[in-house]
Order: sequence, then C-alpha cells, then structure tokens
Amino acid sequence: MKTTSYTLLENGTVVNADGEEQANVLIRERKIVQVSPKLTIPVDTTVIDCSGKYILPGIIDSHTHMGIPIKNGWSADDFDSGTRAALKAGVTTILDFTILEPGQSLTESVAKRLKQAEKSHITVGLHCNITRYEKSLLKEIPDLIRQGIRSFKAFTTYEEAGMYLTYAQIKKVARIIGKHGGLLMVHAEDNETIKAATKQYSGQNLTHPKYHALSRPPEAERLAVEKLVEIHQQTGCPIYIVHLNTAAGLEIAKAGGLLVETCPQYLFFNDSVYEQPDGRMYVISPPLRKPSDQKALWEGLLNGQVDTIGTDHCPFRLSDKPEGLPFEQIPNGMGGIETAFPIMLAKWLKEGWPLSRLVQLMSSHAARIFGLYPQKGVIQAGSDADVVIFDPDNRQTITQQDLAGRDAWNGYLGLEAVWPG
Ligand code: URP
Ligand code: ZN
Ligand code: ZN
Repeated sequence: MKTTSYTLLENGTVVNADGEEQANVLIRERKIVQVSPKLTIPVDTTVIDCSGKYILPGIIDSHTHMGIPIKNGWSADDFDSGTRAALKAGVTTILDFTILEPGQSLTESVAKRLKQAEKSHITVGLHCNITRYEKSLLKEIPDLIRQGIRSFKAFTTYEEAGMYLTYAQIKKVARIIGKHGGLLMVHAEDNETIKAATKQYSGQNLTHPKYHALSRPPEAERLAVEKLVEIHQQTGCPIYIVHLNTAAGLEIAKAGGLLVETCPQYLFFNDSVYEQPDGRMYVISPPLRKPSDQKALWEGLLNGQVDTIGTDHCPFRLSDKPEGLPFEQIPNGMGGIETAFPIMLAKWLKEGWPLSRLVQLMSSHAARIFGLYPQKGVIQAGSDADVVIFDPDNRQTITQQDLAGRDAWNGYLGLEAVWPG
C-alpha cells in the first residue's frame, strides 16, 4: 500500500494577517493539514526545523507583466524566468494580465495568455485587460466572471498604444462588471493632462529621462482618481487603482471607497533617480514622484490606506533602453518581483513593524480581493501549502549575484534584503 508522506515545519513562528503564534505546520500533498503548537507526528514525516524562523503565507504578486510588448520592445522575463525568480523571493502566486490583440475576443485573449503561462513554476491567475471598447467584448464579461476571471483592467491613458478607454466607456464597463460581481482595476493617469504636458516636450529629441516625469505630472493621477471615485459611486462597481503613487491620489481614492495598490518602486525611489547615469532605466508609468509622496505611501502602508503591494514587474535590459533615446520612445517599466518581498521585509524588521500587516499587504488582502482566499493568503488547515520561511538575521545587501531573473537591469542593487530560506 502506498503511504503518503508528510512534511512538518517544526517550532517556527507562524504569521497570519491576524497575528503570530509559535506553531508547527503539518503538510501533506501540498495542503496544510494542521497548524498547532502541539501535534502528533505521523510516522512518515520529514521534519524541517524552523526554530528562530518565521513562516508566512506565500507572497501574492497581483500585478506582473511577463513577456509583454511595450514600445518596440518586450519585457525581459517570460513566465518561465519570471516565476523562477519570483519563487526565490517568496512569491508563490502571481496574477498577470491578458493582452487583447486586434480582432480578438476577451475569451480568446484569456485562452492565449493561459497557454503562455503554462511554463510557470508557481500558481498563475489572470486579470482580463479591456483595452478596446466594443459592444461584443462587453457581452463576454458575465460569462468570464462565471468562469472565474473576475478582475478586469482598463487604462485611462496609453492612447498612443491603443489601450485607452474614455471615462464614459469605463463607466459602462464598470456597470457590467459591478452587476455581475467582478472587480475593475484601473491604470489611473488622466489622458488629457498627459497629452497637454507631453506636447511641451515631445518631438524635440529630448533624451533626459526627467522629461518622462514632466510629461506625466501628478495631477494626472489626481484627476483620474477623482473620476474613478465618481464612477465607483455611480455604478457600485468595486474599483482597484493599480500602482497608485501620489499623496493626493491616495487621499482621494480612500475617501472615495476605492481599493489601492502601490509598488516598491514608488516607496523606495523618487524622481531624483532620473538624474542618475542610469536614470532612463527608471522610466516607468506612472513616473517616480516626490519624497512627500513616498512619505504618504509609507504611512498608508501602516495606517490601512494602502490595501496591497504589487510589483508591476516589467523588466528591461540596459540594451532595451539605450542611452540617447528621446524620452517618449523609452520602453516603460522596471522589474521588481525578485526583490519586492526581501526589501519590504528588511525594512519591516528594521522598523519593528508588525509582520501581520506585511502579510496583509503582500498576501492575504490580494487573496481576498481576487477571490483566492482561503486557498491562498493564510496558513491554516485546508489551505494550499504555499509558505515562505525566513531567518530574520539573514540580512544582506542585494548584489547582481543574488538575482536569478534574466539579464535584465535591476534598480534595487545595494538595498538591504532579507531572503527567504
Ligand atoms: O511602466 C510600466 N508600469 N509598465 C508596465 C505597464 C503598466 O502600465 O503597468
Ligand atoms: Zn499601468
Ligand atoms: Zn502594470
């Protein structure tokens, strides 16, 4: 008779969203069987000593872009390399986005992206991008929600890339999504504000990356978030702002009942990096902001204003953003999946902040918002055995050798990290 073996994580500190406890975690067939300070060890058990270590639910990165086309280039990680790097950094689930091609239905875009995701090494879910407004696409939304694709994403900008929806169109989309129990995610930068600002600088061969930030001013986020609050209140559709990055945007979003994600890049960096020799590599949209915005975001992590931390992982190689490109031609995006949890954790431990809050921001809230809870986002009997174990003393400075992703540039070298393991 075949016996099923168990794994026991012994004597660790288990941290969930509601607190921490000294406990043993018994696992069988990739499921958590029991979590308890005392338990009877079955015969066929591999014991892993976790004394002095912490055990957290696996990190959920609900904002990644594996192998997507951007401005004549492709983000450097595909599902294989990106999820391999993710796993090393404690990420056990990613939620990526579909790519809606011309003439394609939403359903076809989901099927194609799922196929691409087959080479992943961790759990992958998808949000469905709605980057074109067509009645036939809207008709697909209820069925997609019934099939489990319940988060959709719209863009209030990127007109040049053919991804822009007007506020009136977004409102119509939101009404349908809300009626059928889905969630609308939005890249919130006001298109008209960006167009007006860009007009001052574009077409003049301005290669300094600071023009990227000047052409996408913070008012663009404020205005878009204001409109999205109105849409949320008029339609009842839950709205989740991705990569929120300004103090004003945060205040308005939370006062208006929106869900908010921010990303490590907006926490750790500000627009002064555009003056660095590698400043072009920090060209991301929305751009990096001011120290006062960073401060508001850090406060928002602790005071409950920010709901989740996602990475917007979209790495590029140095050669993808060659020096001397006019700012408007630089591909937008930077990597982060491989360093997000280790750097957040190092900061958290240094400040002595409660680890249960980090679990909320990087795992349990995403699990709840995107319908994965309690399979993911919690260490309890019956949940998937997605765990991240770390020694709080394993603090190191990030070097290129620590990174497993493709040969993409990484903006976080030199920062302190606590690596899982
Ligand atoms: O610059 C960025 N963020 N690139 C990825 C696409 C997006 O807007 O999230
Ligand atoms: Zn975006
Ligand atoms: Zn993104």
